[in-house]
Amino acid sequence: GIKMVTIGGGSSYTPELVEGLIKRHAQLPVRELWLVDIPAGEEKLNIVGALAKRMVEKAGIPLDIHLSIDRRAALQDADFVTTQFRVGLLDARAKDEGIPLKYDVIGQETNGPGGLLKGLRTIPVILNIAKDMAELCPDAWLINFTNPAGMVTEAILRYSRLNKVVGLCNVPIGMRMGIAKMLGVEADRIHIDFAGLNHMVFGLNVYLDGDNITEKLVDDYLSGEQSGVSMRNIVDLGWEPDFIKGLNILPCPYHRYYYQTERMLQEEKEAAKTAGTRAQVVQQLESDLFELYKDPDLNVKPPQLEKRGGAYYSDAACSLIDSIYNDRGDIQPVNTRNNGAIKGIPEDSAVEVNCVITKDGPKPITVGELPVAVNGLVQQIKSFERVAAEAAVTGDYQTALVAMTINPLVPSDRVAKQLLDEMLEAHREHLPQF
Ligand code: NAD
Ligand code: G6P
Ligand code: MN
Ligand code: MN
Repeated sequence: GIKMVTIGGGSSYTPELVEGLIKRHAQLPVRELWLVDIPAGEEKLNIVGALAKRMVEKAGIPLDIHLSIDRRAALQDADFVTTQFRVGLLDARAKDEGIPLKYDVIGQETNGPGGLLKGLRTIPVILNIAKDMAELCPDAWLINFTNPAGMVTEAILRYSRLNKVVGLCNVPIGMRMGIAKMLGVEADRIHIDFAGLNHMVFGLNVYLDGDNITEKLVDDYLSGEQSGVSMRNIVDLGWEPDFIKGLNILPCPYHRYYYQTERMLQEEKEAAKTAGTRAQVVQQLESDLFELYKDPDLNVKPPQLEKRGGAYYSDAACSLIDSIYNDRGDIQPVNTRNNGAIKGIPEDSAVEVNCVITKDGPKPITVGELPVAVNGLVQQIKSFERVAAEAAVTGDYQTALVAMTINPLVPSDRVAKQLLDEMLEAHREHLPQF
């Protein structure tokens, strides 16, 4: 049987993962699931862990759930390790989202200044996990969900000895589901050629039953009041019709921060005045969820979890693990080493691209050069991610300032410095390298 370890096991998303394992237990024999957290998360771990045990018991499958705050003990001889932790918890997220707004800059936890600071906090932790894995379970696969997932995956590829790592995001599957819903068809009839970076991925072509429907989709949908393709955590503003028709490819929901910056900033500022930033909304959602999870009669994933942005994440994670374990050779969009698939991006950089999934991991499908209209932005974000990862590893202030300044959502070197100084100070306890 398979031994799986989930780091950040106290996450409210854990029932989603357990549901995915239950659904697939016949083809994916996970026999041990170790949910690992830190002492500060132990209360959450115990609540969600107890629910996970009830779910498994109700399903009647042979899966042992273990709860642990001893990461190294848990990792011993693991086959698959998934990571879904948040350094500094939602309080840190509130700062990532709130501080930039004071400077009229987008406040978002995976893009712009928030993404940079989340990366600086997370990368040292993930590199320690990679070190532990190299020692305790050198043949295991690391499936990383922890954001910023692209930057984090890249840091593992370039700064650790681990080769068996895949970064995962639910945005591609969310786009596919959104389009299927819009067209009123089953999702398995839709195929999308995904290429780009995490939270910067494009659907270059969209197919229905093998017919290329990209132009029709772009012409008939996407540019209304709402586009119909978004996530729970991103307001769905429709695209400017002539822009999206001119572009003629499918942006991801996060592209709104880059192509609709001033409207998105306006939305964020309005929200901050009323409901609060997304971190505050999620704090409420999370405490409601944990109240539900405490109910000893609850033994399935509650539908309220769908209010979180991570919908379908367990489908993405479990299908990936299933395809590696069973050597399926199917196509899935994941974050992996570029290896020349996207021309102009370094070989050793992480890209989010359709891959053939085998027992030896994802094999990226060659894309060539990205369309000229989007190539520049993708390159710029990749430069940002590389410089940011270097800053996270070295703790070098000037490198961090360069990363902040070259981010397209930051207007100038001076604002970058003010933002960096305030944010480094605010997050000091989680940034030992600075
Ligand atoms: P959360 O705030 O609930 O944190 C999850 C758990 O991580 C907590 O129980 C916390 O105690 C624990 N934790 C913190 N530091 C840790 C450490 N050093 N080691 C082990 N555990 C630690 O977060 P969440 O909302 O469940 O999200 C978790 C992570 O997954 C975030 O980084 C989030 O951005 C990411 N996420 C990614 C996707 C994706 O598409 N890739 C989707 C959803 C969430
Ligand atoms: C999306 C993204 C994730 C992100 C999440 C936030 O699904 O793909 O990477 O972390 O939403 O959701 P939340 O409910 O925490 O705002
Ligand atoms: Mn994501
Ligand atoms: Mn800039």
